[in-house]
Amino acid sequence: MAFPKQVRLVEMSPRDGLQNEPGPVIATEIKTGLIDRLADSGLSHIEAASFVSPKWVPQMGDAAAVMAGINRKAGVRYSALTPNLKGFEGALSAKVDEVAVFGAASESFTKKNINCTIAESLERFAPVVEEARKHNIPVRGYVSTVLGCPYEGDIAPEQVANVAKALYDMGCYEISLGDTIGVGTPLKAKRMLEAVAAHVPMDRLAAHFHDTYGQALANLYAVLEEGVGVIDASVAGLGGCPYARGASGNVATEDVLYLLNGLGIETGVDLDKLVATGDWICQQLNRHNGSKVGQALGGTCK
Ligand code: HMG
Ligand code: MG
Repeated sequence: MAFPKQVRLVEMSPRDGLQNEPGPVIATEIKTGLIDRLADSGLSHIEAASFVSPKWVPQMGDAAAVMAGINRKAGVRYSALTPNLKGFEGALSAKVDEVAVFGAASESFTKKNINCTIAESLERFAPVVEEARKHNIPVRGYVSTVLGCPYEGDIAPEQVANVAKALYDMGCYEISLGDTIGVGTPLKAKRMLEAVAAHVPMDRLAAHFHDTYGQALANLYAVLEEGVGVIDASVAGLGGCPYARGASGNVATEDVLYLLNGLGIETGVDLDKLVATGDWICQQLNRHNGSKVGQALGGTCK
């Protein structure tokens, strides 16, 4: 199978990257500064915020202020998580371009993350998708724990396929497959993808891999070979998941871009600007830069 000619990078750092940051709530200006820099580096899809309960995820409590504070760049899609209708209403008022519902292939993770069963989660998402359709807002669907669950261990690829298909049939235009705790390896990733692609077209699938075990780039290479053309990543490898103990950040966007550049795959993103952005946010947060490429290209944060 040939690699795709182009890949769309979906930038996760303002949401997945910052939602789990320990310590005091990060200033809204730092979040908007990050988002504006990311847009300036050529990223065309940025997950900017999350309209979830601030009791559950305090770092995302200023979602509306973040959306109001960014300098919207033409051609950039600013999206946000919306677990239910309340979240959708917030996102609609804040004029997000796209929303996302997020489920999981594991019952235990679903319970810990959004406090319901998988079946209940799908029931909650349906009216969100319905409302979004009325307002012409595209909906992305996430499936978490596709390569393993922090509570249940191995997850059957068919279970991932079932949830992915349910979200796709509901009206999600794209399904992002999350290796939430980064435990996958390339052959496992391929097998999972094949099971899902039997029900959801390959050009509607995205890879969302965390890098806890250092396998994310290898896993991405494996799914690129299968034809996946959308990759979620987070500058400086920021992030984790509040309901998945030990999970590290998404694969670093700089590292993914370096890989894609080497394969001759187009993204429209400027590596130098991206590296500068990763460096900037690490300085703001006084945090280690989780991108190998970010470190190699001379950032001041190590
Ligand atoms: P619940 O407690 O079952 O909900 O939480 P509830 O309906 O009983 O409401 C409880 C309170 O939350 C009420 O307030 C609601 O108004 C409020 P109170 O009366 O107590 O003052 N509430 C909200 N407030 C703001 N925005 C909302 C909202 N909904 C209810 N949308 C709920 C259920 C889903 C709300 C909660 O579990 C939650 O917010 N979970 C979010 C978890 C989360 O954000 N996790 C991280 C994102 S997922 C992820 O990182 C994985 C991903 O990256 C892919 C991967 O890596 O695998 C996407
Ligand atoms: Mg994630």
